[in-house]
Amino acid sequence: MNWPDELIFIPNSRMPQKTTHVRLDGRVCVLTGATSGVGYHAAKRLAEGGARLVLVCRNTEKAVQVKNELESEHQTNVRILQSDFSKLSEVRNAAATILEEYPRIDVLINNAGIHNNRRILTENGVEAVFCVNHLASFLFTRLLLPKILESAPARIIQVNSEGHRFGGLDLNDLNWDRRRYRGLQGYGASKVAQLLTVWELADRLKGTGITINAMHPGAVRTNIGMNNGLLYQWYQRYLLWPTLKDPRISGEAIYYLAAAPEMAAVSGHFFNLTIDEKPAKHALDRALGKQVWQVSEELTGLVGKNG
Ligand SMILES: NC(=O)c1ccc[n+]([C@@H]2O[C@H](COP(=O)([O-])OP(=O)(O)OC[C@H]3O[C@@H](n4cnc5c(N)ncnc54)[C@H](OP(=O)(O)O)[C@@H]3O)[C@@H](O)[C@H]2O)c1
Repeated sequence: MNWPDELIFIPNSRMPQKTTHVRLDGRVCVLTGATSGVGYHAAKRLAEGGARLVLVCRNTEKAVQVKNELESEHQTNVRILQSDFSKLSEVRNAAATILEEYPRIDVLINNAGIHNNRRILTENGVEAVFCVNHLASFLFTRLLLPKILESAPARIIQVNSEGHRFGGLDLNDLNWDRRRYRGLQGYGASKVAQLLTVWELADRLKGTGITINAMHPGAVRTNIGMNNGLLYQWYQRYLLWPTLKDPRISGEAIYYLAAAPEMAAVSGHFFNLTIDEKPAKHALDRALGKQVWQVSEELTGLVGKNG
C-alpha cells in the first residue's frame, strides 16, 4: 500500500528499528529531562554504553535516584544539574556550569518536554509548553554550541514528536491571547517551532562536523500530561496507556542516533524512532523557519549572537 506523506508515520512506526552496539565510552553526553519516561530510558541506555552523563533535571530528588541507580549498575559517572526549563535564567545557569566544568560535549540530547491541556504562562509571560519544549532547548543548544563546535565531531538530538503534525504555530499569537488554547495544538506549535529551527541550525552547521537531527521517540507510556487534571490523568492511564509502547524503545532509538557510525554525517533529518521520515509540510516551511529563528532569538535574548 502506498501511504500519503501525511500518514507515513503509521507504517513507519511498525518498521523494524535500527540498533547499534558501538560504545560511547567516556563520551560526554548532556541530556535534559532524565527523571522520567523517554529521558530516563535514554539515560539508562547511554550509561550502559559507557557514556559520561550530565543530566539536566528540574527535580533533584528524582535525579539523585536516577544517578544512584545508573552508577550502581554501570561503570559510569553521572553529574546532575538542577534546572527548570520554564525559567530561561535557569537554562542559562545550567549551560554556564557545563561550559565551565566540561572540556567537551560529544552529544547533546534535548528531551525535556511537557503537554498542558490549558494555557499556563511562565513567570516571563511566555506560554509554558512553547517555552519548555522549544525556547529552552533552543537557548540551551545555542549557549552550548561553542563547546560543541570545539568537540567536533559531535551530535545534537532534539526529541521532537509526531505531534508536530497537529500544527498550531501562529507567530502572531504565540501566547494564545487571541485563540482558545488547545493542548494538542499548543504542543504541536512547540514541536513545529523546534523542527523549523533544526533545519536552520543544520544549515549553519554544515562543514563543522556537528550534526543536528530531530526524532519522535515513539508513542510510549510515560508521565507526559500527568500534570493535567484528574479527568485527563484517568484518560491517559486507563484509555491511552494500554495503546502505547514500552519507553525502552525510545532509549534504544536515541542511543542509535547518538552512537551509530552510519549517523555520523547525517544532519537536518527527522526520524520516527530510527526511521528517516518526511515531516509535515508546514514543518518544512523554510521562510517561516527564518522568522521562527529570529523570534526565538528575540525571546531568549540571543539577538546578534553567532551560531
Ligand atoms: N511519551 C510519548 O509518547 C512521546 C511522544 C512524542 C514525543 N515525546 C517527547 O518526549 C520527551 C520526553 O517526554 P516523556 O514522554 O518522556 O514525558 P515525561 O515522562 O513526563 O518526561 C518528561 C521529562 O521532562 C522533564 N521536564 C518537564 N518539565 C520540565 C521543566 N520545566 N524543566 C526541566 N525538565 C522538565 C520531566 O521532569 P520531571 O520528572 O520533574 O517531571 C521529565 O524528566 C518530550 O519532549 C515529549 O514531547 C513523547
